[in-house]
Amino acid sequence: MTDPREVLVRDLTAARERTLLLTDHDEPELLRQHTPLLSPLVWDLAHIGQQEDLWLLRRGDATRPGLLPPDVEALYDAFTQPRAVRAQLPLLPPVEARAYCREVRGRVLDRVERLGQDTGEAGDDAFEVAMVVSHEQQHDETMLQALALRAGPPLLGAGAPLPPGRPGVAGTSVAVPAGEFVLGVDGAAEPFSLDNERPAHVVDVPAFRIGRVPVTNGEYAAFVADGGYRDDRWWSARGRAHRDEAGLTAPMYWGAGGPAGTRTRFGVVEELPRDEPVQHVTWFEAEAYAAWAGARLPSEVEWEKAAAWDPALRRRRRFPWGDTEPTAALANLDGAALRPAPVGAYPAGASAYGVEQLMGDVWEWTSSDLTPWPGFRPMLYADYSAPFFGGDYKVLRGGSWAVGASILRPSFRNWDHPIRRQVFSGIRLAWDG
Ligand SMILES: [Fe+2]
Repeated sequence: MTDPREVLVRDLTAARERTLLLTDHDEPELLRQHTPLLSPLVWDLAHIGQQEDLWLLRRGDATRPGLLPPDVEALYDAFTQPRAVRAQLPLLPPVEARAYCREVRGRVLDRVERLGQDTGEAGDDAFEVAMVVSHEQQHDETMLQALALRAGPPLLGAGAPLPPGRPGVAGTSVAVPAGEFVLGVDGAAEPFSLDNERPAHVVDVPAFRIGRVPVTNGEYAAFVADGGYRDDRWWSARGRAHRDEAGLTAPMYWGAGGPAGTRTRFGVVEELPRDEPVQHVTWFEAEAYAAWAGARLPSEVEWEKAAAWDPALRRRRRFPWGDTEPTAALANLDGAALRPAPVGAYPAGASAYGVEQLMGDVWEWTSSDLTPWPGFRPMLYADYSAPFFGGDYKVLRGGSWAVGASILRPSFRNWDHPIRRQVFSGIRLAWDG
């Protein structure tokens, strides 16, 4: 598929299919708010349409009239409407929200068809469409975060099957020798990369070791059983304060609503899967676990080198395994599984250094604060990254099982407050080399 218009239509359509599937519930269900940290699904739904309307039909100019009356459109401004109050707003009912999204999408598809008709090049317009695809897919992931919290009979079934894991890989690590590599990407190589991934630049990285696979529930359970949550040796001062205030004793969902040794999420109670990557831990829990294990978290620079650098060819790969697009044999993405795959499930997805499961499964907390790469330039959606630089955020890398495959790259940077764990966040260890 070389025509960028075909790729964009494919990616727009895939995102919308996911959105409609995740919001195919009755009205009371869509109006429910499961936590003040996340929106009711009906807000996400209309907000997806509103952002598409703003960025693709009005080029980001909010003074131009959109398809919604201004007072209604204002309800869907993520910066002025805090998540905690969104359920109390006079939101569009689901049927109207769907109709609005459909109307916007129809006009957008007309516009995509005309892209590059005069010049033969889709250029900036194509980037903006890809940015909006990324936005919709990111909301699909937050909707899954909300649905994971939902009590009551499962709405989404048990999840699609995943490949089996391999014994013997948990707890192993690989060496990444010292040396320079190219961090970040440019628009020429990755036209759909977002502003905070650019520009590509050379950095020198000291030798380190990194976990071959993410930390498993079984490994994390040993930390819990060892009294890790009560032993202040493993916790930073901030981590200790948050642990005590929030009453943390295990990852989110462990034991909740079921007997000890179980996990309850998406309305399903199950025995804790020991070979599955641990998820729903705060950055502080990841930090404490790493200290207990005699390790540390990788920096995001180390993470990206382990994921993308090919030391033999001295160039970046587009993905850890090479330059081909992700498939179900290479990574667990797109959300259908509703869970991470057991460790060792994707040997064919290994990076040049032999690191596995970097794409998909769980977002991996890194030791890094969110900062711009040297030479950063904001994109059209100028508030996507810049307002967050230098804030109280830690970077997460690699995407989760809930991330749309079309938006993920080794250079993709996610960030959240270190106390958050409703995200599909996990742990990969690192050591000085
Ligand atoms: Fe948004």
